[in-house]
Amino acid sequence: MKTPFDLTGKTILVTGASSGIGRQTCISIANMGGKIIASGRNEERLKETITMLPEDKHKMFKADLTKTSEIEEMVNDLDKINGVVHCAGIVKLLPMKFYTKEYLREVNEINYEVPVLLTKTLHKKRKILNNSSIIFISSIMSQVGKIGQGLYAGTKGALVAITKVIALELAAKNIRVNCISPGLVKTPLIDLITFKKEIEENIKLHPLGLGDPEDVANACVYLLSDASRWITGTNLIIDGGYCAQ
Ligand SMILES: NC(=O)c1ccc[n+]([C@@H]2O[C@H](COP(=O)([O-])OP(=O)(O)OC[C@H]3O[C@@H](n4cnc5c(N)ncnc54)[C@H](OP(=O)(O)O)[C@@H]3O)[C@@H](O)[C@H]2O)c1
Repeated sequence: MKTPFDLTGKTILVTGASSGIGRQTCISIANMGGKIIASGRNEERLKETITMLPEDKHKMFKADLTKTSEIEEMVNDLDKINGVVHCAGIVKLLPMKFYTKEYLREVNEINYEVPVLLTKTLHKKRKILNNSSIIFISSIMSQVGKIGQGLYAGTKGALVAITKVIALELAAKNIRVNCISPGLVKTPLIDLITFKKEIEENIKLHPLGLGDPEDVANACVYLLSDASRWITGTNLIIDGGYCAQ
């Protein structure tokens, strides 16, 4: 039986596909019938992601997305797509007294500028079909404060804000634009997101415990599918109850 969550016939670009949430998002989309275009920097781990997918219809692009020429090259080579999930991102934990212009720019570039400029390039080159879905992966740090998280939180808050604007600008084409804000998820990033001595405290902040990559990937499947066809401009918080307290 076909469900409204089915992704058969949809081609989805996933950035950050070589690790963590991005890799699991590829697997979950492919399991629902979607065709994946996986993007990341590390070729070996990208290939591993592709081998984890059912069927052999999927593609990969090795690209450092902070390089404009590599974004252009990737987008030029792309088939038309029905969706994109922007998972690529980094974390830098630093108290404010250590901020520098270079650190601010480093985090902002991949976490904010890249998803925005990649979306713009895809749109301008007419690669995003009408009735598509765009997902930005923000963070619960866009909603709550935490010592040391400022550089990261600023970029993730910016994604939540621009989601609403791009959603309005693309609504005429029925292209939906949404954000997902996860709490702490068990990926290789976790050691960087939280100071080691704070891990127990962080677990306590999540009444349902830490998340698994599948918890975010399932939400991506929903937001990419026709089941969410009337949802745009939102920020879906998936945090095991962090914000409920
Ligand atoms: N894990 C969490 O607790 C958590 C919570 C909230 C939000 N998030 C967000 O979820 C997203 C994925 O996080 P994750 O935990 O899955 O992290 P991860 O396992 O470290 O994966 C990060 C991904 O980003 C890619 N990437 C980084 N810099 C890049 C660049 N310049 N060009 C292209 N790709 C680049 C990496 O590619 P390579 O490995 O190939 O270099 C990797 O695939 C991030 O945006 C993060 O902020 C994570």
